[in-house]
Amino acid sequence: MDCMITAVVYSESGGTFKTTMTANLAVALERMGARTLVIDLDPQEGNLTSLFDVGTSRSDPDADNLVKHILDMPDGEFDDLIETTNEGVDIIPSHDMLGDFTSNLEQKISYETGMKNMNRDEYPRFELLYDLLWNEHELNQRYDAILVDPNARAEDLLYNAIYALRTLIAPVKPAGKGNLSLDGLEELVGNMETQLDIEIGLSCVVPSGVGQTNAHQQYQQQFDDTDAFSTPVTIGNRESLMDAMWEARGSAFKVVEERWKTFKRDGEMVSEPGQRRLRDREIETLEKLFELAHFVATETFDADVDSVLELEVQDHDNRRIELMDKEQTEATP
Ligand SMILES: Nc1ncnc2c1ncn2[C@@H]1O[C@H](COP(=O)(O)OP(=O)(O)O)[C@@H](O)[C@H]1O
Ligand SMILES: [Mg+2]
Repeated sequence: MDCMITAVVYSESGGTFKTTMTANLAVALERMGARTLVIDLDPQEGNLTSLFDVGTSRSDPDADNLVKHILDMPDGEFDDLIETTNEGVDIIPSHDMLGDFTSNLEQKISYETGMKNMNRDEYPRFELLYDLLWNEHELNQRYDAILVDPNARAEDLLYNAIYALRTLIAPVKPAGKGNLSLDGLEELVGNMETQLDIEIGLSCVVPSGVGQTNAHQQYQQQFDDTDAFSTPVTIGNRESLMDAMWEARGSAFKVVEERWKTFKRDGEMVSEPGQRRLRDREIETLEKLFELAHFVATETFDADVDSVLELEVQDHDNRRIELMDKEQTEATP
C-alpha cells in the first residue's frame, strides 16, 4: 500500500462511543489488509488500553511510556512501547503520565527556551508528536493506517495528535431532543486550523447509538439531508454488542465471531465465549463498521484495500460479505 491512512477519532462531547469506534475501525482496517496502529492518548479508565487488555505498566511512573518519548526523554526503545493485540492491531498503550502532559511540557519549554534564549511562544509545542512519529521513527514506512483516540480535554495532546495526523473522524450521538449539533465541530476545526496553521480534513461524521424513536429517526434524517460533510454509515443502538467488547477484550468482530455474551448464572453475572446468539442486526452492524473503514481508506485516503469481509463465527458456517455489490453471498463451506 502506498498511501498512509491517519485519523484522530474526535468528538467535542464525551461519551460519543469514541473508544468503541476507534477499536472497531482499527480492527476493520487490519482485516482489509492495512497494517494498523492505534495510539491511546487517553489516561482515563475505560480507554483503548483497557479495552484491548494491554499496557500493564500504565500506572508505573518509572516505566518508559509515550510521554517520555514525546518530550524527548526516553527511558528505552520506542519500539518496546508498541504491543500487538490478539486481533493483529498494534497499539501504543496509555500511561498515567498522559494526564500530566501539559505540566511536563511546560517544564521542558521553560528549560529549553531558557537555554536558547528563545521566546516561549516560538516553541513548537504542538509539533512534538509529529516529529516523533514521522521524522524520528518513520512510522509511515511501517504502517498503512494509524488512528488516535485522544483525551478531548487534554488540549496539548489533542493538538499534537491533530497536528500529526491532520484528519478527523467524528462520532456523534443523538443528543437532547435529537437535534443535529455540529456547528461546534466546524467552528472548532476552523479554530484549530488557524491556531496550528495547517489544513485539517474531516473524513466523515458517524452517528452512533441511533435508536428507533421518532426523535432519533428525525436526527438521522438531518444527516441524510446535509451535504456539509459525509455520513457514510449510521451505527444503531447496539449496547449489548458493544458492551461485550469489554469482556471479549477486543472488537465487535471478535464478540460476534467468538460469540461472547454476558449473562446471569447462579445469581452472578458472567461473560463467556460460545454463548451469544447470532443476530442479523449485529452482522449488519459489523458490515457497517467495515463499510465505514472502507470509506475512510478509499474515499478519504485513496488507499487500496480489500473489500471482502470474512466472518468466521464459532459453530456456524463462514460468511463472506462483499462491499462493492453489497450482496451477501451464501455461506462458504
Ligand atoms: N453503538 C452503540 N450503541 C450503544 N452503546 C454503545 C455503542 N457503542 C458503544 N456503546 C457503549 O457506550 C459506552 C461508552 O463508549 P466509549 O466508546 O467508551 O465512549 P467514549 O470513548 O466516547 O467515552 C460503552 O459501554 C460502550 O459499550
Ligand atoms: Mg473513550
